[in-house]
Amino acid sequence: MKQLLESSLKSAVLYGQHYLANGKVASYIPELAKADPHQLGLCLITKEKEIYHAGDWLVPFTMQSISKTFSLIAALQTSGYQKVFSKVGMEPTGDGFDSIVQLETKQLIPFNPMINAGAIVTVSCIDSKDPVKEFLDLVHKLCANNEIKINEATYLSEKKAGMRNRSIAYLLESDHILEGDPEIILDHYFKMCSVSVTTKDLAHYAWVLANDGLDPTTGERLIEGWIVRIVKTLMMTCGMYDESGEFAVKAGIPSKSGVGGGIVSVAPNGIGIAAFGPALNKKGNSVGGTHMIEYLSKELNLHYFANQSDITA
Ligand code: DON
Repeated sequence: MKQLLESSLKSAVLYGQHYLANGKVASYIPELAKADPHQLGLCLITKEKEIYHAGDWLVPFTMQSISKTFSLIAALQTSGYQKVFSKVGMEPTGDGFDSIVQLETKQLIPFNPMINAGAIVTVSCIDSKDPVKEFLDLVHKLCANNEIKINEATYLSEKKAGMRNRSIAYLLESDHILEGDPEIILDHYFKMCSVSVTTKDLAHYAWVLANDGLDPTTGERLIEGWIVRIVKTLMMTCGMYDESGEFAVKAGIPSKSGVGGGIVSVAPNGIGIAAFGPALNKKGNSVGGTHMIEYLSKELNLHYFANQSDITA
């Protein structure tokens, strides 16, 4: 098994490299445009807590939209199910991650917590004197790394360039969905997106989710089971934006991406995976990352809906 995992991760990185020419680093946040589009890294943690890795697994990047899963957990923990889902829905959009159109044409509350509008709402639902500290404490615990912190340059860059998010927040405010000052909520959102992590950190987080919120090595409960169920389901249905359906067919693993190039994937059998590759496809997902996860899914039989007579095309 050890050899299979080591060689699969190495081959996945080589496989991902073939697709990098189809991608571009994010440029709408100037600080992200500095990333090296050739980087690719992977980390996988087994149920028994064995760590496997390949490529640029320890290169730091900002979690961006992956923060949306942590802010959802923090909102559910501090405000509860009823409150959070009275302000944000559970449906995929089929639109881009920063789309504003449905808030005007379909319903006032954002479709789900994985798009920008939904995450701005969940951030506003973190019921704490210091929501950013609440968020960082959660990240430290679930990634098992107390050194994780905000990348200040990215935070300032996001804050300066964040006009679209500002438009979303003010529209939500005008419809009485946001509680609190939009500028303060946006500031918290930008800080959370700018938290710097590595695939090792995110693979640990995925591992906790893959083990239903328990650390299987100690039996300690780190997140409540009902919250894990919600987060994993929304990752599967909405985590890759308007590519969620295709990714569910091809990889079949609940996953969440970020424009920093990260993808966190909660695999079956207690396996946590994180991928990194800053070159993005047109939907804003890591082009190398999506292909590496698809490769691992086939190679290690990690598709949630795979079956014995499944001959994958
Ligand atoms: O709000 C934004 O646009 C970014 N901070 C995060 C967007 C993002 O990561 C979308 N992911 N693929």
